[in-house]
Amino acid sequence: MQAVVLHGGQGTRLRPLTHTGPKQLIKVAGKPISQWVLEQIRDSGINDVIIILGDNNPQRVIEYYGDGSWLNLNIKYVYQGKARGIADAVYKVKNLVNDRFIVYLGDNIIPYDLKDLVKFKGDASIMLAKVNEPQRFGVAIINENKVIKVIEKPKEKISDLALIGIYGFTREIFEIIENLRPSWRGELEITDAIQSLIDKGKNVEYKIIEDWWKDTGLPEDIIEANMILLDRYANKEINGEMINSKVEGRTVIQEKSTIENSRIIGPLFIGKNSLVKNSFLGPYTMIGDNCEIIDAEIENSVVLDNAKIEDVSIRDSLIGQGSLIKKGKTKPRAIRIVAGENSRIEV
Ligand code: DAU
Repeated sequence: MQAVVLHGGQGTRLRPLTHTGPKQLIKVAGKPISQWVLEQIRDSGINDVIIILGDNNPQRVIEYYGDGSWLNLNIKYVYQGKARGIADAVYKVKNLVNDRFIVYLGDNIIPYDLKDLVKFKGDASIMLAKVNEPQRFGVAIINENKVIKVIEKPKEKISDLALIGIYGFTREIFEIIENLRPSWRGELEITDAIQSLIDKGKNVEYKIIEDWWKDTGLPEDIIEANMILLDRYANKEINGEMINSKVEGRTVIQEKSTIENSRIIGPLFIGKNSLVKNSFLGPYTMIGDNCEIIDAEIENSVVLDNAKIEDVSIRDSLIGQGSLIKKGKTKPRAIRIVAGENSRIEV
């Protein structure tokens, strides 16, 4: 079986972080969102992956994942270019997949054992979860243990069971997509393709998951995903240098990083080649590679690679690559920030 991972889309709600690359490459708990997806796919026993690339700096995805061998995967790439819908993206693999395959939206984090899905027997398989804002999702109506209807972003509340970003398909889906029309948002919707399968009397299996999952479309989703993933997966693993510092709880400190005169409370992640000096880092914080954190306090935040934070206290924040945040003259010190790549902020 092969897995198809969608790595395109516009990422507009995550601007400015997505001005220079796709949202699926934003790191949470130490890895790009799509790397969490790819490792989960690998751990379910699938090694052949096709990544669908969009038009936002797709070469960054190829540079990062390469042929996938470092992840024990065999990765091929296909260009979708402009985001014309999930069904349009899926159609691009028509000549590359065998009879059954799974599709995973590369911006969704769904810590669910995929082994069940991989064994689906029906004409398609969808995964569902109860949500509070069904109008943000595709939803499904279930009757007598059967999927009887699926609708993309319903205006009225007809179901609170959202389709979440993992699907199982057979090659039959391609003929269905050939006959789809664009939706009101101008996209070929995978939800409409699934509805066509239902209309043809095909068997669409479903599974309702109770566990936490996230569509990381908004900055607060990234911060929450970081928190949950650190909580679940961070272990104590200190490979950096510790100078006169105290580390409590499950904390990862990667090679070539230095922690000096600082206090750190996990779960927490510090990438490679970063410096943390005279600082306090509280739970659920990720510091990327090549960062400098000096005289600062940071809690429950995601600080991406090459950022520099000096003499400020921040929490619940998402700091873009190459950002500089340092103390200015005005108060209060505690601030909330969503900053894009190469931002410079003085507070
Ligand atoms: O998160 C689950 C929801 O994902 C489902 O409930 C919806 O039924 C489904 O349509 C989708 O809704 P979104 O509006 O959130 O989709 P979004 O545009 O964010 O795209 C989802 C992923 O697919 C994202 O990783 C980008 C990628 N994508 C999207 C489009 C439209 C592509 O690679 N190409 C595309 O053309």
